[in-house]
Amino acid sequence: MQSDPSPFGIRGFLIDAPEYGSLRSRRDGAMIVENGRVAEIGDYDDLRKRQRAAPVRWTDREAVAVFPGLIDCHTHLPQYSAVARGESQLLPWLRENIFPVEREFTGPRAREEAPLFFHELARNGTTTAMVYAAIYEDSCDVGFEAAERSGLRVILGKMMMDLGSYGQLQPKKILSVSLIESERLCRKWHGADNGRLEYAFSPRFAVTCSEKLMRSAAELAQRFNAYLQTHLAENQEEIEKVHNLHMSARDYTDVYEKCGLLTPKTMLGHCIHLSAREIDAIAAAQSSIAHCPTSNLFLGSGLLKLDQLLKAGLAIGLGSDVAAGPELNMWQVMRGALDVQKARNMLEPNLQRLRPSEAFHLATSGGARALGKSAIIGSLDVGKEADLIVVDLAALLPYGKQGRSFDDLTPEDILALCIYRGGPHANLETYVRGKCVYCAPEPTARA
Ligand code: GUN
Ligand code: ZN
Repeated sequence: MQSDPSPFGIRGFLIDAPEYGSLRSRRDGAMIVENGRVAEIGDYDDLRKRQRAAPVRWTDREAVAVFPGLIDCHTHLPQYSAVARGESQLLPWLRENIFPVEREFTGPRAREEAPLFFHELARNGTTTAMVYAAIYEDSCDVGFEAAERSGLRVILGKMMMDLGSYGQLQPKKILSVSLIESERLCRKWHGADNGRLEYAFSPRFAVTCSEKLMRSAAELAQRFNAYLQTHLAENQEEIEKVHNLHMSARDYTDVYEKCGLLTPKTMLGHCIHLSAREIDAIAAAQSSIAHCPTSNLFLGSGLLKLDQLLKAGLAIGLGSDVAAGPELNMWQVMRGALDVQKARNMLEPNLQRLRPSEAFHLATSGGARALGKSAIIGSLDVGKEADLIVVDLAALLPYGKQGRSFDDLTPEDILALCIYRGGPHANLETYVRGKCVYCAPEPTARA
């Protein structure tokens, strides 16, 4: 991995979305990165001419766009090899397709796959990811080791479940082992590399977790000031199951509330089928939501009522939710978010449309807010940590360099091209804290 203690400059069309509803952009702009942070932003000509104490190494390319790094708020490390598998809905899909691959994610398999997974995230332009491991301690440990080497910003946790789990442990031991191992992993990794790696206690969901497990996970997260992540209200059959398991609870969200799982450091995956009361409870607790549109479409889970959640002021990021989502590519997840709202618009024409700039906000600034990291990542601002991607515009245009002139493209055009046609083929470089964690092979080698 290339490390850059000395200042360097990146030239390109700078585009970010610090506010929901609008884009901020600078044509032929540039930024200087120093000590892992954005030191200056301006017009390329101005920055290039300005004298600085230390010499700046410039990467001078035209026809590239520079965006804040993409943030994936919900994905599963052990599931990537099982993408695009199965045709059923959530609960049978988990049983038939997911528990069998997670069961194998230990030992050499986990050690081999974990580095590949984080490389794929970097190649796709994801700079921050919140991730579930399998139930085994080593699956999470090798995940952290691979995340550490990848240079990415990663929040990871060992999957916790003590009902209907897939391990070899005797039922009596499952709960205590899950708690001991989770605590040990948190002590080892939470805050590592100056906060680049963090721990998330990860009770899977109320269907596979006892109340004791959920309460204990919440206590541990509070004790270590760590994150919590779980799944909520993704599928109707799941909701009915939770209702039958917790007859005294007001609703699914109440089960988590009562166990102390709703905190400002909690990321709730999906949240498709929530009542107004549940939305208010999540807002009052300042918990965040990971919207996983490609997953929700793949499993036929439902169409998120994004407008209602935004209206309640909730912090919302996007999640690839691999393997229910078929790709780690966050541009495709943004496209999925647009598709879901378009589908709702067909049924409810009076709803306001979701725009590409808004989906992009959710995948950058929105994700940063949902993770409590707005002060350090999510937008291109002087002083923030330099988590960036550089995208090759020619790779997005139908006829490449032979087609339309780049000068005609507006920031909205560029963003729409990224969302509808973007991905690793167009990603030139990925930076985290100013370190290049992915660099595309030279075009001749790529051809
Ligand atoms: N709910 C509980 N576990 C999972 C999972 O692994 N994937 C998805 N999509 N939903 C879940
Ligand atoms: Zn998930």
